[in-house]
Amino acid sequence: MNLILLGAPGSGKGTEAKFLAEYYKIKKIVLGDILREEVKNNTSLGKIVSEYMKKGILVPDDIIMKVVREKLDSAGFVLDGFPRNLAQAEMLEEILKEKALSLDGVIYLKVNEEKAVERLSGRRVCKNCGAIYHIVNMPPQKEGICDKCGGKLIIRDDDREETVRKRWQVFRRETFPLISYYLKDSKLLEVDANKSKEEVFLEIKKALDSYGKDKDFSGN
Ligand code: AP5
Repeated sequence: MNLILLGAPGSGKGTEAKFLAEYYKIKKIVLGDILREEVKNNTSLGKIVSEYMKKGILVPDDIIMKVVREKLDSAGFVLDGFPRNLAQAEMLEEILKEKALSLDGVIYLKVNEEKAVERLSGRRVCKNCGAIYHIVNMPPQKEGICDKCGGKLIIRDDDREETVRKRWQVFRRETFPLISYYLKDSKLLEVDANKSKEEVFLEIKKALDSYGKDKDFSGN
């Protein structure tokens, strides 16, 4: 199964990508995490992308395409945070063709802006393994400490409200047009992402089940 997760900042892409990867045993390719890792390691790529990320704007397409081309090596994936504009969607088609891969579905997590801002203001991520928490909706067992690896939980640089609002503007302008782009292909599956993370995952599974009746989308 080859999937794209589309959604505004705070719609729950990272959270649902993890569920999808575990349930369907597919690889998750999370562009934001890949770029943050480069920033953390202070690589030459990290130095370039950190300026864009801090401001909440998109990293240039040529840089992103290089990363995707490298990571997208076989079937069985969920792409989180890519594509983010029409140029990236078109380039993705080329890469898929080159690698004889195809897309099975594009899941659009539709969320209300205020709810997303509230989620992002309470988000905490593990500095070590990247696990995602929320101080109210998904708290760790011990405050400030990752349940999985014991790493320190931190607030992402781009989760200040002003930057979150900027990221939403970028989403509306650049990424939202992808919804009609994928609707044309009949690949778009819209899910109400205002619900709890478990309910959202159930809706995604239901949408994939009915969409993939003729394919093997049975998961575990
Ligand atoms: P990226 O890291 O992809 O950020 P984003 O798209 O803004 O999305 P977020 O990670 O903020 O939110 P999410 O939807 O994953 O929500 P999450 O599951 O964490 O990108 C960051 C930056 O990298 C960009 O601004 C850009 O600069 C650059 N970049 C990345 N890709 C690029 C590309 N293709 N081209 C160019 N530049 C690119 O959940 C959020 C919070 O809510 C968490 O605390 C979680 O616990 C909680 N939560 C999740 N779901 C629920 C639920 N259902 N109910 C209650 N709480 C929930």
